[in-house]
Amino acid sequence: PETGCLSIIVLGASGDLAKKKTFPALFHLYCQGFLPPDEVHIFGYARTKISDDELRNRIRGYLVSNRSASPSEDASKFLQLIKYVSGSYDAAEGFQLLDKEIAKHEISKNSQEGSCRRLFYLALPPSVYPSVCRMIRKYCMNKSDLGGWTRIVVEKPFGKDLDSAEQLSSQIGELFDEPQIYRIDHYLGKELVQNLLVLRFANRFFLPLWNRDNIDNVQIVFREDFGTEGRGGYFDEYGIIRDIIQNHLLQVLCLVAMEKPVSLKPEHIRDEKVKVLRSVLPIKDEEAVLGQYEGYRDDPTVPDHSNTPTFATVILRIHNERWEGVPFILKAGKALNSRKAEIRVQFKEVPGDIFKCQKQGRNEFVIRLQPSEAIYMKLTVKQPGLEMSTVQSELDLSYRQRYQNVIIPEAYERLILDTIRGDQQHFVRRDELKAAWQIFTPLLHRIDNGEMKSIPYKPGSRGPAEADELSAKAGYVQTHGYIWIPPTL
Ligand code: BG6
Repeated sequence: PETGCLSIIVLGASGDLAKKKTFPALFHLYCQGFLPPDEVHIFGYARTKISDDELRNRIRGYLVSNRSASPSEDASKFLQLIKYVSGSYDAAEGFQLLDKEIAKHEISKNSQEGSCRRLFYLALPPSVYPSVCRMIRKYCMNKSDLGGWTRIVVEKPFGKDLDSAEQLSSQIGELFDEPQIYRIDHYLGKELVQNLLVLRFANRFFLPLWNRDNIDNVQIVFREDFGTEGRGGYFDEYGIIRDIIQNHLLQVLCLVAMEKPVSLKPEHIRDEKVKVLRSVLPIKDEEAVLGQYEGYRDDPTVPDHSNTPTFATVILRIHNERWEGVPFILKAGKALNSRKAEIRVQFKEVPGDIFKCQKQGRNEFVIRLQPSEAIYMKLTVKQPGLEMSTVQSELDLSYRQRYQNVIIPEAYERLILDTIRGDQQHFVRRDELKAAWQIFTPLLHRIDNGEMKSIPYKPGSRGPAEADELSAKAGYVQTHGYIWIPPTL
C-alpha cells in the first residue's frame, strides 16, 4: 500500500451526511488501523464559523464503533486528528486557507519521504459541486514533487435528469479526470451487493440457469417503514425514482443482469454494466405505478398539491439474448409495512409437473440485502412423514448464523477505503450515470409534467394495490402460506 501523508478533507463538515455517515465511517476505519495517526490528518470545511472543538463535539455523539475495545478513548484520539477550517464554497479565501492548513500538516508529517495524498469528500448539495471543484482545482491540489494524488468523492443526486446530469458531469469533467472522480452509490458498498459477482460467476449452480429459459421474473425491492420525516423539502424535489430506483436499484439490476466481465478490473466490470444499461428498453406508461402515502403533504416543507411519488413499481425490460421477455420489477417505497431490501429471482414452473395437484409455488432465489443479510433458495421438498406430500422449504445461508463472529462493514466505510486505495470498481462511471438517466428521464418528465399521477396509499400498507396487480400481470406469482423466517441463533 501507498505511504506518506494522507489528508482527508470533508467539505460540508457540519451537515447531516458528514455527521451521520462520513465521520462515523472514518472512525470505523481509524479503529481498524486503516488511518494511521502518523500519516493521516482530517479536515472539516464548512461555512459556519466554529472552533475545532465545537466541530468535534458535534460529531462525537455519532461515533459509535463495535470494532473497538474502548470506543470512547478511541473516539477522543480520532477527534484529535480533525481540524476545522471555515470558509465559503465559492470564494478563493477559504480554499487558500484550507490549502495552507493541509500543507502545514504535510510538511510536519512528511519530513522524511513519501507522497502526499489529498482526498476531498463533498458532503454537500450538488448545486455547489461546480464551484467547490473549481476552487479545489485552483487552490488545493496536491503539489508534492514526490507524487501522490488528489481525488474527489461526490454523491447523488447527480442532476435531476439526463441534461442536468450531463451538464454537471461536464463541469466537473473539465476540472478532474475520470480516475480522480469517485461517484458514490452506497448500495455498491453493501456486503451482499458486493457478493453478487462472486455468486453469479464463481458458482456452477447458477451458470446454466441464469437466463430467460429458466427465470420467469426478477424483483428488486426496497421498502422503508418510515416516511420522509425531516427531509420532505429535499425529497419533494426528487421523488422515489430519483432517490432510490434510478441509482441504488438500477446498480443492483446491473450486477444481476450483466454478462461476465473480462476480468475483475474496475473498467471491465463497468464496461459490462454500461452494456446492460444500454440494452434496457424505454419504460412504458402502463408498466409503471406511482404512489404517494397519505399524510406526506402534511409536512410543511412539501407543497400542498405535490404529485411527487413516495412509491413506485417500474418494470424494466432488457433487450438482449439472455433476458428478452424477462421482466425486472423494480419497486421502492417509503412509509410501507416493513423495512427491507432484497432481490428475488423467480424461476419458471417445472415442465410436466407430476405434483400438480399439490402445487406449492415456484423456486425462488432470494438475496436479502438488509436487514438480516441472507441468501436463500426456496424449493419444494417432501413433507417429512409417512405421506408422500410436498412442502415449500429453503436452503438458507443466513449471515448472522453462518458468520457468527464477523462484523459486516458499513457501506460507507468500505467505499471510503476504496477511494484511498484507488479502486473504482464500486463507483459509478460517467457513461454509466448517463445511461442510467437515459432510462428514466422520459418517465420522470411525464411525472413532472403531471401526465402521470401518484395513487394515494395508507402509511404502513403494502403500497397501492395497482402495484401488486402490475407485478402479477408481469408474471410474478406470490407464494401463499410460506414465510421465510430469519433463523435465531
Ligand atoms: C438514501 C436515500 O440514498 O438511501 C434515502 O436518499 C434512503 O431516502 C437511504 O433512506 C436508504 O439507505 P439504506 O442503506 O438505509 O438502505
